[in-house]
Amino acid sequence: MSNEPFVVIGSTGMLGRAVAADMRRRGIEFLAPTRAEVDLSKLETIDRLPQCHAIINCAAWTDVDGAEGHEAEATLVNGEAVSRLASRCVGGVYVGFSTDYVFDGRSTTPYCSSHERAPLNAYGRSKAYGEELLELEHTTWLNIRTSWLYAPWGKNFVLTMRQLLFARDTIKVVNDQRGRPTSVEHLARVTLDLIDRRARGHWHATDGGECTWYEFACEIKSLTGAPATIDPCTSDQFPRPAKRPAFSVLDLSKTEAELGPMPHWKDNLADVLRRVPEGITHA
Ligand SMILES: NC(=O)c1ccc[n+]([C@@H]2O[C@H](COP(=O)([O-])OP(=O)(O)OC[C@H]3O[C@@H](n4cnc5c(N)ncnc54)[C@H](OP(=O)(O)O)[C@@H]3O)[C@@H](O)[C@H]2O)c1
Repeated sequence: MSNEPFVVIGSTGMLGRAVAADMRRRGIEFLAPTRAEVDLSKLETIDRLPQCHAIINCAAWTDVDGAEGHEAEATLVNGEAVSRLASRCVGGVYVGFSTDYVFDGRSTTPYCSSHERAPLNAYGRSKAYGEELLELEHTTWLNIRTSWLYAPWGKNFVLTMRQLLFARDTIKVVNDQRGRPTSVEHLARVTLDLIDRRARGHWHATDGGECTWYEFACEIKSLTGAPATIDPCTSDQFPRPAKRPAFSVLDLSKTEAELGPMPHWKDNLADVLRRVPEGITHA
């Protein structure tokens, strides 16, 4: 391994915190520039980074609905900045994260890593553009697509749902979008294992199993013993600015052939909920 540093961008985010923690646990030293030091919306700040052994980019424009009215800003951070970061990795590797939302949701079988991109919303287009630019890079890169992230910290469906299930009598949750929830701690482990194995190109990493948001919410209710009733609804009954794919299950066969089976989302969810302090909605 070279003496050049690992760099983690976005170490304050939901996934970035898990990646940083796992790297410390493995005894890997790394630099974690703050957003004031490296701001992906100011491309020139990326040039301040030293020559790196690996850049792990956990930063992104992640506001899916907000991207609808700010597509240029989202594209700068999720597109051009990705290319600029990757170009810093001469002799090293750029590691970034993309999304199930690069796909159109029309498939009825899991999306494999070489499936054609056809995003339905601005956020998906910005991430797809980042992928296209990576494919033009002459440096080495690993792009890990993932979906429906949750953690004992940050702003995510699990913590929001747990809070609502204790605060309200009834909640409506959409039952016509199917995907794979993903614990960021699991994703961090998979990411570092894939880096260790010198994986390159597009890979998928999520928890095992699949569900709808409604089924996900029902499992949170069951594990927490929350009293609220959950009513299934359609996406049309719960309109949001950004259209979501109806089916965005990512195929895991390539990753599982390399690393073994991905743990089921219900097991990862139970583990995460056991460790969330009572009353926490996000931290
Ligand atoms: N969340 C999901 O369900 C999901 C699903 C599929 C894929 N992904 C992808 O997974 C990755 C991690 O997502 P996440 O949910 O962990 O993200 P997150 O919690 O929203 O964190 C985003 C991180 O990016 C940083 N950031 C945002 N804009 C920046 C900028 N202009 N310059 C530098 N840093 C900036 C934030 O810094 P501050 O703390 O300063 O704001 C934060 O550290 C992203 O690539 C995302 O697209 C996420």
